[in-house]
Amino acid sequence: MPNFTARDRLKLLTGGAAALLTGCGGGGGASSTTPPPVVVTPPVTPPPASDFVPEVGQFRTAFAGNFEIGAAIQDNQTVDSAVDAQILKDQFNSISAEFQMKPEIIAPTEGTFDWTIPDTLVQFAEDNDMVVRGHALLWHLATPDYFFQGTPAEVRARLENYVTEVVSRYRGRIFAWDVVNEVITDDDSATDPYRRSNWWDASGGNADYIDWAFNAARAADPDCLLFINEYSTRFSGKRGRYIDVIRDLVDRGIPVDGVGHQMHLNVDTQASSALAAIDAVDDEFMGLVQHVTELDISLYPDPGSCFETQTGCRADYGSNVPASVISRQAELYRALFNGFTERSSITSVTTWGVSDAQSWLNDVPITRTNAPLLWDRDRQAKSALQAILDPDFTP
Ligand code: GLA
Repeated sequence: MPNFTARDRLKLLTGGAAALLTGCGGGGGASSTTPPPVVVTPPVTPPPASDFVPEVGQFRTAFAGNFEIGAAIQDNQTVDSAVDAQILKDQFNSISAEFQMKPEIIAPTEGTFDWTIPDTLVQFAEDNDMVVRGHALLWHLATPDYFFQGTPAEVRARLENYVTEVVSRYRGRIFAWDVVNEVITDDDSATDPYRRSNWWDASGGNADYIDWAFNAARAADPDCLLFINEYSTRFSGKRGRYIDVIRDLVDRGIPVDGVGHQMHLNVDTQASSALAAIDAVDDEFMGLVQHVTELDISLYPDPGSCFETQTGCRADYGSNVPASVISRQAELYRALFNGFTERSSITSVTTWGVSDAQSWLNDVPITRTNAPLLWDRDRQAKSALQAILDPDFTP
């Protein structure tokens, strides 16, 4: 048997076996007079494109009493000619910057601030009656190296200055900020809950930078909701460490108002596990607001190694996404939104993008066709959106 590529293997599994084996001379040990057995797996039938057209305002209106409906966007999606701009205006009432409010964009070199793109995003929101979630003041990525140089006191002064500049500029215009993003370790055997990162090192080998960032943000805008934000909160180990850190911040009077759950999920995720993260925070910290900050549902479950080492990744479906996967995604979206509405601490739900055409998951952890959002590549609303909005629809 020759070495097949991942795409070839997929073809074999999906009924293209005869053509493939003919093409490679009968394959492996088969003699020229003995045709290889033909795999009779029925071909995958891609689902028909959804024909659902939501009414103008239907998405945000459906949850108006519960939470804001947000999307992560880039400035190119706000121009009038962009089809995404129309979807945003029609269906959403909140935006986050996908990456254009991070330090490497706002302050690429020390002492300079470039507000061009963040201003555009905030203006777009205001022009269209949307609120803005600020994302993110402090992260271990997308931050220029100069932030980490010098003594802990110098690092602190620089961080406080950055947070003060950014939060003050949008005081009263950005209703919530992710103050710290992804500060929890993934290591289940770690002896403390904190990520070892450039920030940890620059603080002098501790997590004091978290306090510095929150205190500076509160001083710059007393009314803005200040969030800690984290991924994989559906896993009990990560969730436990997250809660330990939040409890410590709250106990020490650090001004945390809200808990963010990114919710980068996949079609194998159980809604109950994601919702359990919301409940766990509610149980511990009644009164803290919760936001779903980066929701998407990948078509590809991760066997454990794909995100970490880009190995063992599920093969690209290409344009042949099985109908069962699309149904499963729609059912999961429905179960999540039903669960979100039952949890009064949730006041904002943001999808990490608008359409499948512009999702980070087409490139991360590997390049493959993904479709994790609620509008498809042609900006047609997907069955997942219909499942969220129409209880009688069977995806
Ligand atoms: C994380 C970050 C986001 C974004 C995504 C990938 O979830 O919090 O800001 O960078 O990764 O798009």
